[in-house]
Amino acid sequence: MSIDFLSRRSFVAGTTAGAAALTLGLPRRLLAAPPGPLVLEARPGTAQLLTTEEPATAIWGYQGGAPGPLIRARQGDKVAVTLTNRLEVPTTIHWHGIRIENAMDGVAHLTQAPVQPGENFDYRFTVPDAGTFWYHPHVHGSGPQVDRGLSGLLIVDEATPPDVDHDVVLQFDDWRIGQDGQIDTASFGNLHDAAHAGRLGNVLTVNGKDFETVAAKAGDRVRLRVVSSCNARILQLGFGDLDPWIVALDGQPVAPHRLGAGPLILGPAQRVDLIADAVGEPGGRFPIAEVSGEPFEATAIVLDAGEGRAPRADPPPALSANPVSVPSAKPERMVDLVMSGGAMAFLQEARFEGEVLDGRTLATEHGLVWALNGVAGMPEKPLFSARIGEPVGVRMVNDTLFPHSMHVHGHHFVIYDDAGAPLPGLRDTVTVDPRAETTIGLIADNPGKWMIHCHMLEHQAAGMETWFEVLI
Ligand code: C2O
Ligand code: CU
Repeated sequence: MSIDFLSRRSFVAGTTAGAAALTLGLPRRLLAAPPGPLVLEARPGTAQLLTTEEPATAIWGYQGGAPGPLIRARQGDKVAVTLTNRLEVPTTIHWHGIRIENAMDGVAHLTQAPVQPGENFDYRFTVPDAGTFWYHPHVHGSGPQVDRGLSGLLIVDEATPPDVDHDVVLQFDDWRIGQDGQIDTASFGNLHDAAHAGRLGNVLTVNGKDFETVAAKAGDRVRLRVVSSCNARILQLGFGDLDPWIVALDGQPVAPHRLGAGPLILGPAQRVDLIADAVGEPGGRFPIAEVSGEPFEATAIVLDAGEGRAPRADPPPALSANPVSVPSAKPERMVDLVMSGGAMAFLQEARFEGEVLDGRTLATEHGLVWALNGVAGMPEKPLFSARIGEPVGVRMVNDTLFPHSMHVHGHHFVIYDDAGAPLPGLRDTVTVDPRAETTIGLIADNPGKWMIHCHMLEHQAAGMETWFEVLI
């Protein structure tokens, strides 16, 4: 399902045309009002996650499906979505990667009140950047909600999209499914998972299916929007002979470059846009495999038997840049963000709601096993307050034995190499390896209160979250 929003641009154009139309005596329907908002109902449903010989799985989803509706807008559009909560628990929608107005960021208790069962919330926001984004709940402990299926994609089209024959979405998700074919809900909130790599699934789906087939003709140019909505698993995707170009990271264009030998590594919540020329024999196929464990095919581009087309001679041109500013050199103002805790390095103590508690009390009474700068869970004071437009660097130090995929709200950032030079591309989520550090830089140009947290959602729930503020 794809929903196109009437853009402000086309609405304004429509009214101007309409005004002109009156004098020209053209039909009055040109003055029609824009369509109403999309209503996203968060509710229980079922999905055929497993093969068709196996049972359907009970899920929670937007419109009762997994994934939820694909929302498609054009750069600069005003998106209008009303969330209706038909669950038995409070929820919200966070628009991951959108540099959004703070009040629309969907973070319960920070930017809005949680939406109670039976209630609605109107999300109205502009999408400043073209690219591949996604949406999901953002309440305390939203892990189980995302893991039960509440997520969907938000694609913002470029004013001039690249010349491709197919624009395809590949949303990867791993699910923990029991013998009965149903989600293993008994293990939600399991502290052992939270203290280790997070809740890893045992079934991988692409676009909510056991296997996704992308149909193309030999020689076609295909854009693949690869998205991970896994709670915790770091995907490694092998593309065999396809050798795609990477053209965007986390929704932001990057100078096209070949993936090479790969694999493509995708932390939770990350996106990578690829463009590939399916140059092969008619009837052939390009398997795309998950290779972090025993490799298996998750999806494939399958060429039809008919005659192909001549492949394009040139590599894909760069996507047009989005209006994001980032510091080109390491900012003077640097903030440390030290991650600690987890299995084999358990917290001795940490602050929680203003009190210093020992590790055992944190774990057994509050389900907290991780800390950021010695604080477990949301701190009362922000990690930093920035003046609007101020460049800020964050040195993320992973003092634990697990990788963490750290997400910054409301901003994209650059990552600096060891010499302090910015790596190509911008991200909103970066995986910091165990016992390693990563320095990022951003321009704090979006006013409001924004979260930084681990997107391994069980880690977040077990302590790895903080926030910063941008003052006008
Ligand atoms: Cu994808 Cu704080 O979220
Ligand atoms: Cu983590």
